[in-house]
Amino acid sequence: MTQDILTVEGLKAYYQMNYFGVSREVRAVDDITMTVRKNEIYGIAGESSSGKTSFIKVLAAAIRPPMRVVDGSVKFNFKSGPIDVTTATPQQLDAIRWRSLSYIMQGSMSTLNPVRRIGKTFEDFAKRPLAASGTPYRERVLGHLERLKLPADVLNAYPHELSGGMRQRVTIGLATVCHPEFVIADEPTTALDVVVQKEVLGLIREIQQDMGSSVVFVTHDMSVHANMTDRVGIIYAGRLVEEGPTRQMFFAPKHPYTAHLVASLPRIGDTTQRPALEGRPPSLANPPQGCRFHPRCPLAIDKCKTEVPPLIPVANDHRSACWRWQDVAPLVKPHQAHGVMA
Ligand SMILES: Nc1ncnc2c1ncn2[C@@H]1O[C@H](COP(=O)(O)OP(=O)(O)OP(=O)(O)O)[C@@H](O)[C@H]1O
Ligand SMILES: [Mg+2]
Repeated sequence: MTQDILTVEGLKAYYQMNYFGVSREVRAVDDITMTVRKNEIYGIAGESSSGKTSFIKVLAAAIRPPMRVVDGSVKFNFKSGPIDVTTATPQQLDAIRWRSLSYIMQGSMSTLNPVRRIGKTFEDFAKRPLAASGTPYRERVLGHLERLKLPADVLNAYPHELSGGMRQRVTIGLATVCHPEFVIADEPTTALDVVVQKEVLGLIREIQQDMGSSVVFVTHDMSVHANMTDRVGIIYAGRLVEEGPTRQMFFAPKHPYTAHLVASLPRIGDTTQRPALEGRPPSLANPPQGCRFHPRCPLAIDKCKTEVPPLIPVANDHRSACWRWQDVAPLVKPHQAHGVMA
């Protein structure tokens, strides 16, 4: 029996903006319901500005104005007990941060304090949650650096003295040194070159398996999802539009937007012309009626313009929010997948 560690229900989180006295709401997370299981890597994909970072900021309990949670719940089932991070007190959040729940922010490798040695930053992060000092603390940190394939003298370095790949290993190290049960990583490898990216991804997977933790992994890069994740959720304009086991999402997508994302991946030796997706994602301050994807959807019918399709089960462990999910043809055949799936 697989157990859920995170249950998100009906989550809505909006940015409340004020322009010259006119208030405007950006509905970045608009009614998301999903779960993450113990010991899995759950990938989140979707194009820029679709709300991926906003969504996982709520999961990571990093909600700051102008964002606010308007509705719904985000419940973790940690060993230390259940907690809803949308209603928890700052003290309760303090008790789980880094110990149970950790967050590798988008662009985090460039947010390491430039005037603090890495060793000092490790102390800031880990000393209190690990409740250790002296030799036990040092051994714990050095053991963790070894697992990250980082030399011990990195602790004496300043961030600018390290390469991009090493800096990203350090941020992953900071986020995992306390062996959290749940790790949230937002585009952790986007700024790295392909070779280093592969190393860092391998490392995240190794650490996840070692620690038996759950990971929510955000990237717009579908080839990373193909090689990293157990399940993928696709976000479009603030909503989860499809979710399923990674292989099924690639070979039997049930939402036209997923089919498009998968088909737009470059594949070795493939010279066929792929249909481009017209238009741009909608404004989250004023999203279209009905299905938010309908203005760009090749399958759209009248109903799609007025009625919001619910996210419903369409196959084993697979949900889609599309009125025409039965008509979605996979644009990728398994024999074409060479170079995409490991
Ligand atoms: N601090 C903020 N204040 C106001 N609006 C914001 C803020 N941060 C994000 N938004 C808006 O919320 C929407 C979703 O943005 P978000 O950063 O969550 O998208 P994303 O999917 O992570 O994009 P990317 O792939 O570029 O990282 C966008 O319309 C964005 O402009
Ligand atoms: Mg983002």
